[in-house]
Amino acid sequence: MERIMQIAAETPDECWAESQFLMELPGKWKYSLALLHRGQVIGYLLASDKEVLNSIHIHKLIVDYQFRSLRLGEKLMQTFCQKVMEAQIPKITLKVAQINSGAIRFYIRMKFQHIGEEGAWFWMAREMGDQRRK
Ligand SMILES: CC(C)(COP(=O)(O)OP(=O)(O)OC[C@H]1O[C@@H](n2cnc3c(N)ncnc32)[C@H](O)[C@@H]1OP(=O)(O)O)[C@@H](O)C(=O)NCCC(=O)NCCS
Repeated sequence: MERIMQIAAETPDECWAESQFLMELPGKWKYSLALLHRGQVIGYLLASDKEVLNSIHIHKLIVDYQFRSLRLGEKLMQTFCQKVMEAQIPKITLKVAQINSGAIRFYIRMKFQHIGEEGAWFWMAREMGDQRRK
């Protein structure tokens, strides 16, 4: 947990308290992923199931700054998308700060599209094709 908080502290505007990381949400432990290097967490993707919206929402995606631009974020996202496809869920959503142009570039490369705005945030979504829940 300490390591997860340390990595999150690199993005102070979006930093969560420990209780937010540990909050129970539907599907959270099924869909969230950690990236390990020599037994240490160097990144993670936290997501939960928004069953009523037939989608999965990414709450956090972060790679330790020392390991960025090595396509590790891409690998994490691909593994996550595979899980979402296997569960036959048709859509992934996320919110990203409008000023976070690097992350927005990354998400566009990962096939996300801008779907709306909320204050200082952009809503983005990736359609997973003609998937239906089992
Ligand atoms: C967005 C993020 C997860 C991408 O992880 P990554 O392992 O660097 O991703 P990849 O190596 O697969 O892709 C790198 C691309 O991401 C983008 N990028 C976004 N922020 C970046 C950053 N701070 N440093 C480097 N690349 C960044 C660039 O387009 C970069 O492409 P380039 O290497 O050709 O310049 C990572 O940069 C990060 O943790 N950023 C800080 C947290 C954040 O903003 N998360 C999203 C909040 S919604």
